[in-house]
Amino acid sequence: MKIAIIGAGNVGASIASLLISKQMCDEIALIDINQNLANAKAIDLSQMSIALGLDIMVVGGDDYQILSDFDIVIITAGVARKDGQSRAELAKINANIVAQASSQIAKFAPNSTIIVVTNPLDIMVYVAFKASGFNRKKIIGMAGELDSARLKFALKNHLGTSVTDSKSCVIGMHNDNMICLVDENLSIDEYENIRSQTINGGAKIVKLMNTSAFYAPAAGVINICQALINKDSKVLSCSVLDDNLIAFSRLVKISKDGVKEILELNLKLKDREILDKSIEEFIIYIKNFNINGANINFS
Ligand code: LAC
Repeated sequence: MKIAIIGAGNVGASIASLLISKQMCDEIALIDINQNLANAKAIDLSQMSIALGLDIMVVGGDDYQILSDFDIVIITAGVARKDGQSRAELAKINANIVAQASSQIAKFAPNSTIIVVTNPLDIMVYVAFKASGFNRKKIIGMAGELDSARLKFALKNHLGTSVTDSKSCVIGMHNDNMICLVDENLSIDEYENIRSQTINGGAKIVKLMNTSAFYAPAAGVINICQALINKDSKVLSCSVLDDNLIAFSRLVKISKDGVKEILELNLKLKDREILDKSIEEFIIYIKNFNINGANINFS
């Protein structure tokens, strides 16, 4: 199993570190426009593997050729949203980065599955699909697993019980319109409080350390990689494209060939309305993108 990561920043390096410590692959490639950074982290990670008594090779560089025939390619590259910057501006910058990466992945690893992590996540899933030309079942966005972990963290703190068996999860768009499906019994006020903590989970970390979270996002990616590697399919919350090419997190069965099935959800009316509003916004966004391989024109 060969797994490549585009973007050697905090998220990319944390994913690589987990892949090694969980012994999930034979080879890892780290690609970054900053060649020295990719090389340095590849050396550090290779030495980590040796120190752990493992034989996992990590290569780094800025040339996509190194991911020839890789099985899974994870796109983490992109800029983080700056103070005062709109989501639309961020979407334009990162859409170019994700489109270029996706067209290179299509060229060098045409049989791979792409996992997208770059924000705004659901829009980037669409961009990766259009720019790679891959079957939509081979493009999986990581957000629902992260947001579900944040929901369970808030529930654990509130209830003081273990949440490892909790069926609570988050679906919808990776923004303030995400939908918290809580399985535990909560009052309306308790639910609103937990929901608000979940939605603000990422921003809280940015405020405390001036940069985005990376350990929990990396763990979300690991869940998807595990489902892709294992023979048995697994249900996860992932942002995937439906027949109408709309992407948002939903409960999906993931197996070695990618998305196996999108599970039907019976949403409460209020949640359905939130989701419908998000879908309308998504459609307005993507109407501005004219994507042809690595090239995007914005109208
Ligand atoms: C977060 C960003 C990085 O939710 O998507 O932490």
